Amino acid sequence: MSNDTTLKPAFQPAHLNHNTGRRKLLVAASVGASAVGAGFVAVPFLKSWLPSERAKAIGAPIKVDISKLEDGALQTALWRGKVVYILRRTDEMVATLEQLNDQLRDPHSKESIQPEFASDITRAQRDNVMVMLGVCTHLGCAPKLQSQIQGREERGDSAWLGGFFCPCHGSKFDYAGRVYKGVPAPTNLTVPPYRFESDNIVVVGEMEGENNV
Ligand code: FES
Repeated sequence: MSNDTTLKPAFQPAHLNHNTGRRKLLVAASVGASAVGAGFVAVPFLKSWLPSERAKAIGAPIKVDISKLEDGALQTALWRGKVVYILRRTDEMVATLEQLNDQLRDPHSKESIQPEFASDITRAQRDNVMVMLGVCTHLGCAPKLQSQIQGREERGDSAWLGGFFCPCHGSKFDYAGRVYKGVPAPTNLTVPPYRFESDNIVVVGEMEGENNV
C-alpha cells in the first residue's frame, strides 16, 4: 500500500493530453518553420552580397576600337550603363578651345569630375581624341555634337565655335566638354578614367598602371 497521500488524478484528462501534445507539435512546427524560413531568407540575402557575373561585367572596363572614327566625327560606347562619347577632334576643333576660356564657367576644370591628366584646357590624353561621358551635368540628357554652322537657330547664338548643345534646357559645352557660363549645367562634362591600349584601341574604365578603376 502506498503512503503517498498526494492526490493524483487517476488519469490525465484527454483534452489536456491533447493540448500538451498539440503544444509540442506547434513548438516543433514553428521551430521547423523558422528554420525553413531562415533558409529561404538567408540564401538570397547572402547571395545579394555577392556581385553577380552581370554586375561584374557592367562594372568592367571596355575596349573601344576607334580605327574607323573619322576626323570631326563622334563615336559612342556604353560603360557602366552610361554613354561615353569619343570625338575625333580636328586641329581646327582643338584651336577653338583656347579662344573660349572667357566664356566658360570652369575653363581649367577645377570643379569637374575627371582624371588628373584632364586638367588642362584640352582635357584629353591626346589632343585629337576627346573621351567623356555623354551625360549633361544638369539633369542627364545627351548633349548633341554641333559644328560651328549647325544648330544656330536652336541655340539662338551667332558666336558659336562648335561643341555640344544639350537640347533639354539649353546647356552648351565646347569640344572639350567645358560648360559655358549662364546655362543650367553646373560643371563640365565628366571625363572617365581611360587609357590607350594602342593608337586605335581606347580602354574606358582603366588608366595606365592600374588594373581596374
Ligand atoms: S539636362 Fe542638359 S541642360 Fe538640362
